[in-house]
Amino acid sequence: MSFALQFNHVIKKELVMTQKSKVAVIGLGNIGTVVATNLAKGNRSVIVADRTLEKANKLSEKLGSLVKAVTITDAIKEADIIVLAVWFDTIKELFKSYAKELQGKIIVDPSNPIAPDEKGGFKKIIDKDQSSGQILSSLLPNGAKLAKALGTLGAASLEKAAFQQHEKAVEFYATDDTSIDDQIECLIRDNGFEPVRIGGINQSIRIEVFGDLHEFGALGKTVTLAEAKEVGEPALH
Ligand SMILES: NC(=O)c1ccc[n+]([C@@H]2O[C@H](COP(=O)([O-])OP(=O)(O)OC[C@H]3O[C@@H](n4cnc5c(N)ncnc54)[C@H](OP(=O)(O)O)[C@@H]3O)[C@@H](O)[C@H]2O)c1
Repeated sequence: MSFALQFNHVIKKELVMTQKSKVAVIGLGNIGTVVATNLAKGNRSVIVADRTLEKANKLSEKLGSLVKAVTITDAIKEADIIVLAVWFDTIKELFKSYAKELQGKIIVDPSNPIAPDEKGGFKKIIDKDQSSGQILSSLLPNGAKLAKALGTLGAASLEKAAFQQHEKAVEFYATDDTSIDDQIECLIRDNGFEPVRIGGINQSIRIEVFGDLHEFGALGKTVTLAEAKEVGEPALH
């Protein structure tokens, strides 16, 4: 490649980097920590926040300069995409407490509406045929856009299967707003996965725990795009 071409290539890459939406991860437990870690590995800047700044600072110090710790209010103000890596009921609380700040933002919901059962497993805490995605979409702050994403694998697989060498593992997502598809797909790619849109929020139930496309549902494992096609996912054909 000539010097001029190489230079153009670098400039274009820089441009794409600077044009990426600002992303914040709120809630730094199992999922939030892996998402922030994957993004840093994917060379994507990420803002992190939790109930205390101390916890966010700790993660930022561990992950390096791409990861900035701020308060929840500042995270929402600064970012375009807010990953709410907290429990379903906490998301509902955050919608209320930060209704103004969340206006017009892209909200990523990885939540599963589950709680421990009496037998050491998990049970659904909403009706069998409901999804947390659909419930949350009815409670969205004004002008906010919702994507159900980053919750279709357990935290261990989200860490282990990220940036797979030969063929990337798939992360399914759903949203009613096709105008945010590119931003969500870029977020998933920068997490080290191949994004696959399965439809609108009414499809959320399929990618939540017990759903047919969830690791802890009928799918039962991580899949590559080719493997997802083999299990007959119609959105892929
Ligand atoms: N774990 C998985 O394998 C998995 C897989 C897919 C999807 N998910 C979903 O991802 C979400 C998070 O799960 P998780 O396993 O990561 O839970 P987790 O380990 O319990 O982490 C939740 C985090 O949220 C923080 N938090 C609680 N209330 C908060 C508030 N009001 N504001 C800001 N931060 C708050 C917690 O802080 P404190 O520690 O201070 O309470 C904790 O750091 C859940 O909706 C879950 O269904 C989990």
